[in-house]
Amino acid sequence: MGSDQTSATTRSAEPVYRRIADAMRARIESGELAQGDQLPPIRALAADLGVNRDTVSLAYDALRTEGLVEGEVGRGTFVRASVRAEPMAATARLQLAEAAETLLRFEGARPRLAGGQDLVALHTLVPEPALYPASAFRRALNKVLDETGPELLMYGGARGDPGLRAVLAARLRADRIGVSPDEVVLCHGASQGISLALRLFAGSGDAIAVEVPTYGGVLSTLTALGLRAEPVTMQSDGDGGRAPDLDEVDRTLARPDVKAFYTIPTFHNPLGTTTPLEHRRRLLALAARHGKPLIEDAFAMDLRYEGQPVPSLAALDESGLVVQLCSFSKSLFPGARAGAVIARGRAVEALTALKRATDLSDSMPLQAALAEFVSNGAYDRHLVKLRRELRLRRDALLEALEHHMPEGTAWTRPEGGYQLWVDLPDDPFDFDTRDLLADAARAGVTFQPGAAFLPEGGPSRGLRLTVAQADAAAIECGVEALGRALRARFAQDPTARQAAAVQL
Ligand SMILES: Cc1ncc(COP(=O)(O)O)c(C=O)c1O
Repeated sequence: MGSDQTSATTRSAEPVYRRIADAMRARIESGELAQGDQLPPIRALAADLGVNRDTVSLAYDALRTEGLVEGEVGRGTFVRASVRAEPMAATARLQLAEAAETLLRFEGARPRLAGGQDLVALHTLVPEPALYPASAFRRALNKVLDETGPELLMYGGARGDPGLRAVLAARLRADRIGVSPDEVVLCHGASQGISLALRLFAGSGDAIAVEVPTYGGVLSTLTALGLRAEPVTMQSDGDGGRAPDLDEVDRTLARPDVKAFYTIPTFHNPLGTTTPLEHRRRLLALAARHGKPLIEDAFAMDLRYEGQPVPSLAALDESGLVVQLCSFSKSLFPGARAGAVIARGRAVEALTALKRATDLSDSMPLQAALAEFVSNGAYDRHLVKLRRELRLRRDALLEALEHHMPEGTAWTRPEGGYQLWVDLPDDPFDFDTRDLLADAARAGVTFQPGAAFLPEGGPSRGLRLTVAQADAAAIECGVEALGRALRARFAQDPTARQAAAVQL
């Protein structure tokens, strides 16, 4: 790839990344780049062409979406082994729905972050299998399969296994008053809970207020459902805490097109922060004044390892405005795909109907095994160990940040869960943490750039670190590598970067 593509950067109105992708595709189709060959590294090609690295990265993402190449950040991009002779197969001409096209673009732009022996994975919120209570769960599953009749293998009711709803309701009663098993609708993880709760209140074209930053999954779900995200700033309290700006919530909920507020008050993803009791009370009062529901994502509800629990929004709710989502993915294992939506009155009736209309029912053997696992005490025994390990890892992370982050960096201090947020210091040039990802991966660590948590996709000077896949020793190595990559980046001459950006 030489002068041809260099001229492509100045020649036409077509986006530069498209022209780069076209040129690469031509090289693959002509056989010049064969199966398994590595494409030029992003940094080298960007320097060669005098374009920004993001532009090359976008071009490679487009080729990845077409199925022509594969690879992950920091490991290189390769021509796929099974590249079709005719890449634009008949299916490529299918007219997809607008939402599906948008999701395809999101997928293409998503960084592929690898794990692996030489990389410390601080990017993922998927707990590592070493943390799963696999043997105890296997025993619970075998027990219910041995002891229950064939009815376990039939479709269940839309609300899910009555035994699991009963044990969940009992646990929730410890946190608040009067949840009955009939107010619990089991579902495929909090992800399906989000989708059900959104559909409960909003239809195509409506908007949902979301925190900024927020969980990326809810942003994709909004797109899939044809809904808009209305951003609400997460305000800093100056002391490491963050909470949604209540004036903004007030203004946003006043709008007729905004149908609900999706919020993560406890162990926020990605921030790791928990909102204080008084803030929760004021938020509930606002919601009541506007008559708008709050969708409380309590995905990490059982993972507090420090400090006093703050009552959930659902626990404080006196008006039936809160729909709460729970999950076993982070406290047990994500493959359970087990979660729940808790609601009252007509909302729970409608949720049940929505669940039935979506997929009839969940896996009954799995839910029955979970009920056994929770009620025989294995879940609580597991939580004791898990919380202890998470606290060790959190402490290691905080200590490593203290040692290795450049002056001016700030981070949050979670009291539970797996993640915290890092704000990089101001520097003389515009900086987006996506730009740092490849350097960090080469140094030996991955993180999740802040852009992944913004409705408009960035840029962001923030990043999320997690302790889901790395123990204390690995965390120290990973943060040390991140510090190295950061310092190297900050030491670069800002004028060189700006010159590259101007070329676009
Ligand atoms: C805030 C939040 N909600 C929901 C989910 C999805 O959870 P589940 O695996 O239960 O679908 C996640 C997953 O990371 C999350 O971070």
